[in-house]
Amino acid sequence: MINYLIKTGRLGLRNWLASDTAPFVTMGQDSKVMRYFPELLTEADTIALINNLKKHYEKYGYTYFAMDELASGEFVGFTGLKYQTFESEFTPSVDIGWRLKRSAWGRGYATEAAKACLDMAFNEFGLDEVYSFCPDLNKASEVIMKKIGMTYLGTLQHPKVANDSRFKHCVVYRSQKPEDRS
Ligand SMILES: CC(C)(COP(=O)(O)OP(=O)(O)OC[C@H]1O[C@@H](n2cnc3c(N)ncnc32)[C@H](O)[C@@H]1OP(=O)(O)O)[C@@H](O)C(=O)NCCC(=O)NCCS
Repeated sequence: MINYLIKTGRLGLRNWLASDTAPFVTMGQDSKVMRYFPELLTEADTIALINNLKKHYEKYGYTYFAMDELASGEFVGFTGLKYQTFESEFTPSVDIGWRLKRSAWGRGYATEAAKACLDMAFNEFGLDEVYSFCPDLNKASEVIMKKIGMTYLGTLQHPKVANDSRFKHCVVYRSQKPEDRS
C-alpha cells in the first residue's frame, strides 16, 4: 500500500521509492524534458538527485515529491517544495518546482499538483511564502506559476547557470500565506 502524503483528484505525491529510479533516469535523458537545463542527467546524476530529495524529505517533511497518476499507478514525475540556498536576493527560501515525463504533459497535472503543494506549504508547514524560478524561455512553467496564483516579482540571473546565456535569465514568482497578502 503506497503512503501518499498528498492526494489530488488524479495524482498521488509521495517520498521516493527504488522503483522510481528507472523512469526518472529516462526523464533525465529526454532532451525535450531537459530543454531548459544546461545538460541531460546521467544515471548517476539522477540517483544523486533522488538521494538528495529523500534526505530533504527526512529533514523538512517535504521535498520535490515523486508523483503517481492514481488511475494507472504510474510514476509521472515530480512536483514539490525545496529549500533553496543558492545566492540571490530571493534566497534562502522555499521554492516550488515540477518536472513531468513527456507522456504526462498537457493534462494539467503540474498545475493540479502544485496547487496542492502550495496548500500544504501554508496550512501544514506554516510557511509564510513560497518562491518559484524558471528561465524566462520556459513559458509552460511560467504559465503554471500564474495559474496557481503566484505573483511576478522580477528577474534573477541564476548563479547555478551563470555561464549559460540561454538559461541564466530567470523569472521569479512568489506566493504568500493567504492572511499575509496585503
Ligand atoms: C513545465 C511542465 C511541467 C508543464 O507540463 P504541462 O503538463 O504542460 O503542465 P500543465 O498542463 O499543468 O500546464 C501548463 C500550461 O502551460 C501552457 N503552455 C504549455 N506550453 C506553453 C508555451 N510554450 N507557451 C505558453 N503556454 C504554454 C499550457 O497550455 C498549460 O496552460 P493551460 O492549462 O491554460 O492550457 C512540463 O512541460 C515539464 O515537465 N517540462 C520539463 C521540466 C521543466 O521545465 N520544469 C520546470 C523547470 S523550472
